[in-house]
Amino acid sequence: MKNNTEELKKFRKLAKLGGGEKRIEAQHKKGKMTARERLDILLDPGSFTEVDALVVHRSSMFGLDQQKVHGDGVVTGHGRIDGRTVFVFAQDFTVLGGSLAEGHGKKICKIMDLAMKVGAPVIGLNDSGGARVQEGVVSLGAYADIFLRNTLASGVVPQISAIMGPCAGGAVYSPAITDFTLMVEGTSNMFVTGPKVVKTVTHEDISSEDLGGALTHATKSGVAHFTHPNEAHCILTIRKLLSYMPQNNREDPPRQAPPQQPMTDDSLNSIIPPEALKPYDIKEVIRRVVDTDTFLEVHSNFAENIVVGFANFAGRPVGIVANQPAVLAGVLDINSSRKGARFVRFCDAFNIPIVTFVDVPGFLPGTEQEWNGIITNGAKLLYAYCEATVPKITVITRKAYGGAYDVMSSKHIRGDLNFAWPTSEIAVMGAQGAVEIIFSKEIQAASDPDSAKKKFVDEYTDLFANPFEAASFGYIDEVIDPSETRARVISGLELLENKVDTNPRKKHGNIPL
Ligand code: HXC
Repeated sequence: MKNNTEELKKFRKLAKLGGGEKRIEAQHKKGKMTARERLDILLDPGSFTEVDALVVHRSSMFGLDQQKVHGDGVVTGHGRIDGRTVFVFAQDFTVLGGSLAEGHGKKICKIMDLAMKVGAPVIGLNDSGGARVQEGVVSLGAYADIFLRNTLASGVVPQISAIMGPCAGGAVYSPAITDFTLMVEGTSNMFVTGPKVVKTVTHEDISSEDLGGALTHATKSGVAHFTHPNEAHCILTIRKLLSYMPQNNREDPPRQAPPQQPMTDDSLNSIIPPEALKPYDIKEVIRRVVDTDTFLEVHSNFAENIVVGFANFAGRPVGIVANQPAVLAGVLDINSSRKGARFVRFCDAFNIPIVTFVDVPGFLPGTEQEWNGIITNGAKLLYAYCEATVPKITVITRKAYGGAYDVMSSKHIRGDLNFAWPTSEIAVMGAQGAVEIIFSKEIQAASDPDSAKKKFVDEYTDLFANPFEAASFGYIDEVIDPSETRARVISGLELLENKVDTNPRKKHGNIPL
């Protein structure tokens, strides 16, 4: 009788080798780790349990019968991150270029199905030449099986995709459906059609890196939420990211021990420049009010006129959305609206309270914005805030003008606690613009139009460039001292801890996509 224990030992040794020493060496030469090395960093030591390590493909087409490698080019299983269960798949580029076909796809689907039943996040480490060419249409079917599961799992368990090599063609749509995409600079790329096809079709000459590298997707398309100088940095960010999230949509996010940190910060009282048009960095405000060193910015290089990210307040995770006066005066445009909307919806799906900092002059004017759909895209952010039922705390620091005032988690769209700093200006528009509309005839008729205009601007400013008018209607719950912001947000989160709010029964809404 065969000694199966010996067989198992032999297999385990082989499994570590994947596609063989030479291919591992080639992978290392490119600055890439192997699938198993990546999992070693991702998961708590010793926590990984592999599933389906013995799977091999069933194809004999184009010489594939000579290339059967256990695992079929992907390492799948479950393990723990900070003691909490996660399901993982890591594509192994050393085996048939990590290409995806029947067996490989089924393995991914199996752990996704289990993750859904258990209620735990799914993390995919992507490094693949795409559909396994030799297996033909079966590979396409396998991709579609994954896309379906990505979609069904959306809003049920967090899904995170790290791109650590090529990710091309339809393969990009799995990461695109997941909640967060992380990319590694210089070694990863994502595109629907690669440089060669681009050259043929549009005659553009472009490198893979410029077309679909990490920086491109982090800055231009917004496809990548995070970009990293190396793989270890990328993997450690996944661990950090998960620390703000619950395991699934039925749980609350995990609490950390509250830090020993003062509740007030007097420096906030002077952070807003006295000149209305002078910028300041909203990230400075965020850093001074949240638990020290807990702010993890998401999408930091894309649509920088809005800032989104996670942080803790007294150990409680929140999602932060903030207009950024230091970039385009914090105006809302197409990309910032898309960025904000997706983040708000993630937080709402996973019971993460949203803290919004408002300093917004309105929506960006111009043909470029209008013709590309600022109406539909701006509506996304509005819709996302309107439908969100998680605790919503809003702090207006300076301008809250026009429609953007409504959008940014205002009282009217179910903001639970709406605070304003004394420096707030809550108005239909800035005084200059308002006066030109209301008093244009008077200004033209005046003997000294400039001083007439200044008089009207001063009057309008006195009346509306403050938070008190809005507070008199109850649109603001309280005008607070900036130095107390941290304390007020923390007590607000405590107050709202058991908040219950619902939306009408429906199959799903129709967010303006
Ligand atoms: C089968 C593949 C493969 C694939 C790579 N390999 N991609 N095998 N199917 N899709 C194999 C290679 O033949 C090679 O095997 C090994 O993996 C390593 O590949 P190299 O080319 O040597 O590596 P590198 O130079 O780093 O180039 C990587 C690459 C290139 C850029 C990904 O391999 C490539 O262009 N592959 C094809 C990509 C592609 O067109 N995929 C289909 C996309 S369409 P040997 O034995 O020679 O070492 C798609 C549709 C999905 O994915 C649709 C879903 C709806």
